[in-house]
Amino acid sequence: MSIKRPEGTNDYFGEDMRALAYFYDCAKSTFQNCGYEYVETPIFEQTDLFVRGLGEASDVVNKEMYSAISGGNIAKMIAGETLPSKSRLTLRPEGTAGIARAIIQNNLVEQFGQPKKFFYIGPMFRAERPQKGRMRQFYQAGAECVGSSEPLLDAQMIAMAQDFIMNFCNFEASDFELHLNSIGCENCRSSYRELLVKFEEQNKEALCESCNSRIELNPLRAFDCKNETCKSIMEEAPRITDHLCEDCERHFKEVKSFLDYMNVSYIIDSSLVRGLDYYTRTVFEFTSSAGMGSQNALCGGGRYDHLIEELGGKHISALGFAAGFERLKLAAESKGTRFASNEHPLFFIVALSEEARKIAREIILNAHSNSNALVEMDYRDAEEGNSSNNANVRSAKSQFKLADKLKARVAIVIGEDEINASVVQVRDMDTHAETNVKLDRIIEYIANWQGK
Ligand code: HAM
Repeated sequence: MSIKRPEGTNDYFGEDMRALAYFYDCAKSTFQNCGYEYVETPIFEQTDLFVRGLGEASDVVNKEMYSAISGGNIAKMIAGETLPSKSRLTLRPEGTAGIARAIIQNNLVEQFGQPKKFFYIGPMFRAERPQKGRMRQFYQAGAECVGSSEPLLDAQMIAMAQDFIMNFCNFEASDFELHLNSIGCENCRSSYRELLVKFEEQNKEALCESCNSRIELNPLRAFDCKNETCKSIMEEAPRITDHLCEDCERHFKEVKSFLDYMNVSYIIDSSLVRGLDYYTRTVFEFTSSAGMGSQNALCGGGRYDHLIEELGGKHISALGFAAGFERLKLAAESKGTRFASNEHPLFFIVALSEEARKIAREIILNAHSNSNALVEMDYRDAEEGNSSNNANVRSAKSQFKLADKLKARVAIVIGEDEINASVVQVRDMDTHAETNVKLDRIIEYIANWQGK
């Protein structure tokens, strides 16, 4: 049986690869324009980073991590030894925890300095059940602004995420929705938490097993449950937005007013809590029905004012978001976007003898070093059993057919007559217009060719 790629992963080539390359380009130009700096962190990190960063009660940590024991430690584990945490590794399920770790390890943010702005693009891994828009290896472009709790930065981050989505998907304002909420800080959350736990305890019987198991650990997550009964129960639950402390209330009000100022429309969604535990205050998600199945979140993010501290760093407020390539691509395609190739025009040399093939090779070598043009000839191996001198020289008809298949724009014909007259015949493959060009001017001709 032939070996297939793992479920929930993709091979990228052709138009899909061009779309992925465009995702990188579009993220780079949008984020760099806003002062963000491109960074890379490892694709795997110590498992503990994600357990502590994303929260033990999160689905990602509980069910979706691809973890491994490194090298020779497997033998030690089999022998019953307790392994040091540095030998337990996990493929990153998201990018924020790695950035937070890198900030601490490399001392990237001065406590009293201006905020630093970073962005990253790359593959993430989650062992989820694959479906449309939900992969086990997927690509995210994310941005993190680290070092301030200023609400203007929240609004600017959201506007930048919106720009990125609109640019990549070719969206108009009516093609997507921005859901916005504040989930408060430690102060307001502890009293609200008590209320929510009480509410969930009262509805324990009706809530699903997963919500029940998280009542104590993270009662907010019940808002995120997809179970219909849980959804309708949680509609009656107390809302954090009615219990924000004064500071969080003010922060949220300012974020909204800056968004209004920038004409960024949003829907206040008090059931939006996000799936990772590190969030405080502002949380947001962009969703769309364009081309989407049930996985309709294109992008999500929010503030995480305590993550860096919880991972052993100083108290540094921060916020960020990440957008998923696979979902943005579905959305873009539903708007009719094609990720077209912008390759250079191809010149194809039709060489009608071995001697002509020698001249063709020279033209190709010179064109390569003196122009940006792509020049090719018939590279097909000789047919089996044909060992004559002219074994690789196929008929003009067969070579023109190949030039057509390769979508060549210009054919350069070299036959007996052309060799004798030190010229080549140049034929436009669209219009069939022909002209002769002196052999010693053909590189110049190729380099200056403008096409139609
Ligand atoms: P997230 O909401 O888990 O947030 O993921 C962000 C985006 O990644 C989603 O909106 C979706 O487009 C894409 N995504 C997530 N899981 C999958 C999957 N299995 N298949 C395809 N696409 C997926 C985060 O990851 C946070 N780190 C965002 C953040 C940055 N918050 C603050 N800073």
